[in-house]
Amino acid sequence: MGNSHEEIDIIRRTLRYCEAGTTHMESGLLRNPVSHYANAQRLAQEQAILFREFPIVVGHVSQLASAGDFFTHDETGVPMLVTRTRQGDVKAFMNVCRHRGARIVTEAGGNATTFSCPYHAWTYDLEGRLRGLRQPAGFADLDKSEYGLVELPAFERYGLIWVRPSVSEAPISIDAWLAPMAEQLASVDMASLVVHKAWSVELNMGWRIALEGFQESYHFCSAHKQTACSAYLDNQSVFVDHYPHFRHAVPLAQTVELQQQPEADWDYRANYMDQNYLFPCNFVQVMTDHVFIHSVIPTGPGKSVFKCIMLVPDDVDLSAEQRAKKTRYWEANYNVVCAVFGEDFVIGEGIQQGLSTGVNEHFVIGQYEAGIQLAEKAIGDALDERLVCPQTLTLIE
Ligand code: FES
Ligand SMILES: [Fe+2]
Repeated sequence: MGNSHEEIDIIRRTLRYCEAGTTHMESGLLRNPVSHYANAQRLAQEQAILFREFPIVVGHVSQLASAGDFFTHDETGVPMLVTRTRQGDVKAFMNVCRHRGARIVTEAGGNATTFSCPYHAWTYDLEGRLRGLRQPAGFADLDKSEYGLVELPAFERYGLIWVRPSVSEAPISIDAWLAPMAEQLASVDMASLVVHKAWSVELNMGWRIALEGFQESYHFCSAHKQTACSAYLDNQSVFVDHYPHFRHAVPLAQTVELQQQPEADWDYRANYMDQNYLFPCNFVQVMTDHVFIHSVIPTGPGKSVFKCIMLVPDDVDLSAEQRAKKTRYWEANYNVVCAVFGEDFVIGEGIQQGLSTGVNEHFVIGQYEAGIQLAEKAIGDALDERLVCPQTLTLIE
């Protein structure tokens, strides 16, 4: 796929900034109260609003390739069971039995024809309908149709699976919600990729601290001196606001050479790493030839989990030898990214430890750190109910 207008504009801006010796800057400083990072009441509000009312990415379509494939997702505090039905739809349910509330599926993932509760073996089909119960004579008056699994809004778009972790009568429009980022998400063609690795890291830091590591590149050449620094132009990120989401485009070191090339020859994808923020907690990090899907989820005061899925092109057409070589290449990339994230996590955990000292009443967010400013605005809007997930009057997809 060729470059979009937005991508051409990003390249032009990068080259202009480099020539003028400047970079993308917001209009002023943001003084972010430390309470936005370490306050129990604020965290409860964030969990109740950001992680209940908005859809979040829970997986990639290849994780539910066939009917009956399923995985569970628990980090938001809502036990979710996500599966693909015989009709090919993605559905999400509360992973909670309708008899006496036991956790129905205990595995992280797999394939099933039905889901049977471990406590008294009430059994549900892939559509969540209660199909059978052991020794039903004692439940003679029970209307099984009233005891199906509780369904959550689930959507499959751009190769990713989204679930809103709460039940509500109000349907939401995932297309309206993602519309500001539709062009960027479609251009990555994530549905054609496969999972190379999926992993989680428990972090001793609040989720906002982890989130902000992806929202500026000002830190690359200080925090990642020996790793990411040399790969990118120092502090030359371009941010494109697609409220409440945004694109964070980080030019690779060789991008300056595009100055010598006609625009028709420019190849955005070969020259940029994107960290697309999808409100409230996801990033689609697009590298030149692979993609990471990140989720940063609060799990308690000063605690969060970082979930990552590494997506790579399918290698079915390669020979065994080529495949082994490719696997080594992806592993090398995985190791680099783990090293870089490890550097961020050490710093983030240090920030968390310093929060309680009272040294800072606020953090000062510079004009370069545009992504933090954009996200703070969107998060604040959601907490104050100025930003809500769009609803439709039509049926949930
Ligand atoms: S709690 Fe699930 S069958 Fe009893
Ligand atoms: Fe970093």
